[in-house]
Amino acid sequence: MAYARNPLAKRHSWLKSSRKDSWWIPQLFTAIVLLGFIGYANFRVFENAHYEFGTLLSPFYSPLLFGPADSHHAWFSKPDWLPRWISPAFLILWAPAGFRLTCYYYRGAYYKAIWQDPPGCGVGEPRKGYLGEKFLPLVVQNLHRYFLYFALLFIPILTWDVWNACWDGYGDSRRFSIGLGTLLLFGATATLALYTFSCHSLRHLIGGNRDKLSDRPAQFACYNCVSALNKNHMLYAWISLFLVAFADLYVRLCSTGAISDLRFF
Ligand code: FES
Repeated sequence: MAYARNPLAKRHSWLKSSRKDSWWIPQLFTAIVLLGFIGYANFRVFENAHYEFGTLLSPFYSPLLFGPADSHHAWFSKPDWLPRWISPAFLILWAPAGFRLTCYYYRGAYYKAIWQDPPGCGVGEPRKGYLGEKFLPLVVQNLHRYFLYFALLFIPILTWDVWNACWDGYGDSRRFSIGLGTLLLFGATATLALYTFSCHSLRHLIGGNRDKLSDRPAQFACYNCVSALNKNHMLYAWISLFLVAFADLYVRLCSTGAISDLRFF
């Protein structure tokens, strides 16, 4: 039997490749944005301040489980036994962070950009063996469907925050008012909803357990809806990431007095 040598079988050392295109540019961009977002989010979680201004509440701190005594957003008062450095964001952000970190799209993106497994098609990687997602640490990726259940709970809570942001003031002086903060919170919530409702796991949850969906019109319609949204999952992933960060930054800048809250009416 004759054998042909497969040119694709050639192994390159780490980051070396026969490719002539600029394969590393998207990876570099992805790494900068993701690491920048993670750095900023960590700063905000530890800062434990400037997360609300008037009727605006930062999405990083919503739901606000506890806050200052005069807070209009806090659900409870802070338990005495909780260490001072634990911010309310600590208690909630594990859910959306876990949801994003284990997202099928983001895995593809940061496996290349950060984990380097591989850095790109036909590009040498730093590891010799492939363990897949059956062993630690990558086995935790299988928790994605459970993070989805928690992520779904956030959508109505954030929607309530948008409704609150449509008002200015409290009590007798409360009046309907839309501002830049309202629009940013609305944009963040709408794109987060699109991101969550276009999740691959949600698609499986709705219709993946049936061989024939056409017998169940309501389930079939929902499945088609998620499938249609799923085509733009990557787009929703990025836009929601930016808008959540911008909405938080806006609330922070207003709260620190660096800018004033821009109200259109
Ligand atoms: Fe991306 Fe579920 S696959 S959020």
